[in-house]
Amino acid sequence: MPGFELFGDLERKEVNDVLDNGVLMRYGFDGMRKGHWKAKELESELASTFQSKYVQLVSSGTAAVSVALASAGVGAGDEVIMPTFTFVASFEAIMMLGAIPVLVDIDDTLTLDPNAVEKAVTPKTKAVMVVQMCGSMANMDALRSICIKHNLIFVEDACQAIGGSYKGRPLGSIADLGCFSFDFVKTITCGEGGAVVTNNKEYYINADHYSDHGHDHVGNDRGAETHPFLGYNFRISELNAAVGLAQVRRLPEFISIQKKKYTIIREALSQIPEVTFRSVPEGGEESYAFLNFFLPDLVSARKVSKALKDDGIDGCFHYYDNNWHYVRKWDHLTNLKSLYPISKEVKEGLLYLQTKSFEQSDHFIGRNISCLIKLSWSEEEVTNRANKMAQIIKTIN
Ligand SMILES: Cc1ncc(COP(=O)(O)O)c(C=O)c1O
Repeated sequence: MPGFELFGDLERKEVNDVLDNGVLMRYGFDGMRKGHWKAKELESELASTFQSKYVQLVSSGTAAVSVALASAGVGAGDEVIMPTFTFVASFEAIMMLGAIPVLVDIDDTLTLDPNAVEKAVTPKTKAVMVVQMCGSMANMDALRSICIKHNLIFVEDACQAIGGSYKGRPLGSIADLGCFSFDFVKTITCGEGGAVVTNNKEYYINADHYSDHGHDHVGNDRGAETHPFLGYNFRISELNAAVGLAQVRRLPEFISIQKKKYTIIREALSQIPEVTFRSVPEGGEESYAFLNFFLPDLVSARKVSKALKDDGIDGCFHYYDNNWHYVRKWDHLTNLKSLYPISKEVKEGLLYLQTKSFEQSDHFIGRNISCLIKLSWSEEEVTNRANKMAQIIKTIN
């Protein structure tokens, strides 16, 4: 999925605009900029790409999740429902605000199971955060209904699903707030960067101020700006935004390349009766950043994962045994290994992790292999890869 694979002259031109005027910061220095406002331009391109009224760029996807939650008023002692399968950034971003991550099972979409979400709602629940993992999505209608029923904020982490859609809407633009990452390995990259996307003006203004020390961004004298509330620094630099500006314009091209390569591998694996694919909710279209498939059981998934690695087929992840993306290996969270003291509320709020098991998630993640789709493969390379993968899987099953 990485946009960096097709990095070139377009990105260089945008970066050179910034280097030529020397203004690396997104705010202020109006006179020196020679008309270049890369972060602002990128925000407006993203608003049109994601069909949303407001976009606030920030320094990373992790920052985007924290800023989104903070902008909607999530904080100390609030429970945020999130999936067992995601990147560690999800619980980090929640805990940074003093809130409590409540982990719940995924289903065969590899994203939040709406039934598990409904069961996890308590009087302390403030938000549901769906994570559109590996290029696809949850049943968004079902999750939205739960949020409406219980008056919860609905947050969508679409960091891994840039370019996918649900019932005609871009992923990341469906919930009350959407979050994107443009780190080095995402479908479009800024090097490092992220965005909060929303149609809610109040959330947007909060995100704008909060991500820049509380600055109200009124007038053109930073020192004279007021600070309506406390904030932090989650700003993106002009250099990073410049790279993203070139990349976002290429998104349709990237998605169409991904789709072609995904389809070649999927067709080869479809011939194998033991292989099944993740469910995509009705009306959903994947971003094709990954191809996710299931094998009959954990033993065979482990064997296939090893054989693919041994045969030089890179970028195929068995997340069950991965340290970063699945609850099974998050012992630093379960045991609260923190550099600094953690509040009593969060400590107590996370006690459930000592005893809770997630059999349903194990059932899906244990059998799942998730293969990254690269933009730079030639047609011959991807065909050879697909045939090799099919051969390996047939031999083991
Ligand atoms: C689902 C998900 N959320 C959040 C993040 C965090 O993004 P970043 O690396 O830009 O902080 C990632 C990064 O991999 C991710 O995969």
